Amino acid sequence: KHILVLHGPNLNMLGVREPKHYGSDTLADINAQLYQRAKSAYISLSDFQTNSEAALIDRIHEAHGNIDFIIINPAAFTHTSVALRDALSAVAIPYIEIHLSNVFAREPFRHHSYLSDLAVGVISGLGSQGYLLALEYAINQLTIKA
Ligand code: DQA
Repeated sequence: KHILVLHGPNLNMLGVREPKHYGSDTLADINAQLYQRAKSAYISLSDFQTNSEAALIDRIHEAHGNIDFIIINPAAFTHTSVALRDALSAVAIPYIEIHLSNVFAREPFRHHSYLSDLAVGVISGLGSQGYLLALEYAINQLTIKA
């Protein structure tokens, strides 16, 4: 069983970037916590961060047939990308959409997501803990189905 964690544009700047919205954890901090938890559950995990919409879509295509669950923070592509939606739909891998900030408490353009209706679920506003909670769910699902 293999889980893929995808981080979209500007998330490489976590820790520096608008801590009021995104907290002080770096992407490396978040990934380290995820790897530690996955390891303790004997689940393999991979992560990928990119600022490129094309690279993100290519990575999703590559996941077809070898990834069982995706945890994705699509960042700004959430609100803009039909292509990202189509990629996730094409591979048909269950996914949870994560946002560090509560997008519904922010600008109206962040209230719409092209991905949410196809997601297993959405976590928004719980900071870096959101990723760990999503991972917990994915582990449960994959362990039950094992
Ligand atoms: C975000 C929310 C998005 O609106 C924003 O563009 C991001 C990060 C979040 O994690 O809260 O880059 O996905």
